[in-house]
Amino acid sequence: MSEWLRIAAVDEIPVGTGKEFVAGGQIIALYNVAGEFRALDGICPHAGGPLAEGKLSGTTVTCPWHGRQFDVTNGRDCLIPNQTQTCFAVKVDGKDVWIEMP
Ligand code: FES
Repeated sequence: MSEWLRIAAVDEIPVGTGKEFVAGGQIIALYNVAGEFRALDGICPHAGGPLAEGKLSGTTVTCPWHGRQFDVTNGRDCLIPNQTQTCFAVKVDGKDVWIEMP
């Protein structure tokens, strides 16, 4: 059964940036894409790089370690579309950002 967890305050993640959080025992990369929040598993599947520290360009984040890229709206690897990073549903309630943990 899933549960919603408060992960951050809205103003902790400026537009066009990402930040790492821990929720439900997992590392989560939370991004602010033009005012909409998106959440991915924060550990890069290549070698464990911190995806929240990657550069966000539009909806694409680039892993800071070796440059693998993911679309943060759906988790798809930009070069290997059948590989998908886990995404989490996100909602904003007032000044708080919540994610749904499975
Ligand atoms: S750890 Fe992310 S591309 Fe290598």
